[in-house]
Amino acid sequence: MNIPLHMTAVAITTPGGPESLEPRTELVPDWGPGDVLIRVAAAGVNGPDLAQRRGHYAPPPGASPLPGLEVSGEIVALGDATTGLAIGDQVMALTNGGGYAEYVAVPFGQVLPIPAGWTLPEAAALPETWFTVTQTLVMRAGLERGMTVLVHGASGGIGGAAIQISTILGASAIGVVSNATKAHYATRLGAIATIERTSQDILATVLALTDGRGVDRVLDIIGGTMTETNIKASAIGGHIVQVSTLEGPSANVSLRMMMARQLTLSGSTLRPQTPATKAAIATRIRTDLMPALADANFVRPGTTLFPLADAAAAHRAMETRSHTGKIVLVTPFGAAR
Ligand SMILES: NC(=O)c1ccc[n+]([C@@H]2O[C@H](COP(=O)([O-])OP(=O)(O)OC[C@H]3O[C@@H](n4cnc5c(N)ncnc54)[C@H](OP(=O)(O)O)[C@@H]3O)[C@@H](O)[C@H]2O)c1
Repeated sequence: MNIPLHMTAVAITTPGGPESLEPRTELVPDWGPGDVLIRVAAAGVNGPDLAQRRGHYAPPPGASPLPGLEVSGEIVALGDATTGLAIGDQVMALTNGGGYAEYVAVPFGQVLPIPAGWTLPEAAALPETWFTVTQTLVMRAGLERGMTVLVHGASGGIGGAAIQISTILGASAIGVVSNATKAHYATRLGAIATIERTSQDILATVLALTDGRGVDRVLDIIGGTMTETNIKASAIGGHIVQVSTLEGPSANVSLRMMMARQLTLSGSTLRPQTPATKAAIATRIRTDLMPALADANFVRPGTTLFPLADAAAAHRAMETRSHTGKIVLVTPFGAAR
């Protein structure tokens, strides 16, 4: 196909509320020798996009200033140094930014095939959260078969990925949610138990569910006072993975309890990781997790769709916290497929 010079993309006009997301005409991005150019069908909306829009999460040097960290679509051009991909391939990809657009250039190591039977919007909802959870909970914290994992924000993007990845790898996830609808969703994804944090004591319930032993791993996006709960809810040798701090950037940590229980607390953000690290995560997803996604019985994360031009409405919906699963933007190309 002829690649146009211009495209529609959603830009952040000024740091602020959803109204600062504005569809604009932009140049179609150049692609380097190690990149593929993807004609975007759908782009997932993630917590970090909201932080970037508010001015709290600047793109790393050299990355696109446009929001959007994951897409699905069709490869329309390839750099000379790419391997294993062809023009016309339907793919999903972790981007380095710029996903809220009709075209995006992505390093080929961050591109994955669409799982068999998945729609393009469903596939667009996977990369950002699955790369994050694979890097932190699996590769760094060494999640293993038989472990028990406490998952906060279990009905959201990160939490849902943590439940499903834990389940695929033979671990058991306990999901923390705010209401019964979200508990039902987390259970459908594979959680063996849920805790409604608005009416149940998280620590007491974890200890009851684990015969007083505590959990082997915690995936936390809450921070603040939740850190103390996470430490008390951890088994000997436990590992708490911190990927966000929605309720507070600082915590009162009992170092004695950390020592006595031989705990690890690690933190990470995905976006500044090197292309080599992101490619290594992609390889791990392809080999260890993707076979399960092609199973007809695999429950795909729920998606709520918005047109790309309505990105502001999509962010408003995300901020109400009434959604389960992922919010996804669909381009005119994606809507026509
Ligand atoms: N470190 C990284 O590399 C990385 C990568 C991706 C995302 N993140 C971060 O992880 C967080 C979750 O992202 P996401 O895409 O999963 O978001 P999401 O889909 O909106 O899910 C967030 C979940 O957390 C729950 N929650 C509990 N307390 C909350 C609070 N104070 N504010 C907002 N939600 C709260 C929400 O449900 P209830 O309100 O019903 O409990 C919701 O289910 C974001 O802060 C994001 O920036 C970090």
